[in-house]
Amino acid sequence: MPPRETIKSPFLIPHKAETDVEINSYIIPKNAQILVNVWANDGDSNTWSNGDSFMPERFLNNQIGFRGKDFELIPFGAGRRICPGLPLAYRMLHLMLATLISNFGWKLEKRVKPEEVNMNEEFGHTLEKAIPLKATPIKL
Ligand code: HEM
Repeated sequence: MPPRETIKSPFLIPHKAETDVEINSYIIPKNAQILVNVWANDGDSNTWSNGDSFMPERFLNNQIGFRGKDFELIPFGAGRRICPGLPLAYRMLHLMLATLISNFGWKLEKRVKPEEVNMNEEFGHTLEKAIPLKATPIKL
């Protein structure tokens, strides 16, 4: 599976239809279990060029947001069951990453070049790196 920069839950959390629903002429029967394929949605080539590549810079000048209002990008889901941890995650991720980067230098394992870091993903309820990144902090 190719690397992505936004996907934590590739199929969201399973949902269930409370009543029969018709969406785009598809009938979703009452009680059907719904898995939303965010992995496919958030890498859709109709929206994203090189949607399968790790390119976080693609978000720098992009109006599409991640808060559940733009269905092109729904890493936290959308609607009534959107992730309630979004505001915390949004703050903590930046804080943690910035703290790690600004307080330490980092080096990769011996002989591993940055362009050789294995970015394959392991599929599951959450997507994780198949091979964990091993980096050593160096006190600045
Ligand atoms: C980058 C971090 C995170 C991501 C990408 C993420 C993503 C998601 C996604 C996709 C869902 C399912 C939404 C749906 O089914 O429509 C979800 C649900 C949930 N998340 Fe998160 N989440 C993150 C962090 C957190 C944190 C920090 C908390 C709590 C402190 C949290 C608590 C929950 C809970 C309780 C639900 C279930 C909500 C429900 O079913 O009503 N999440 N999250």
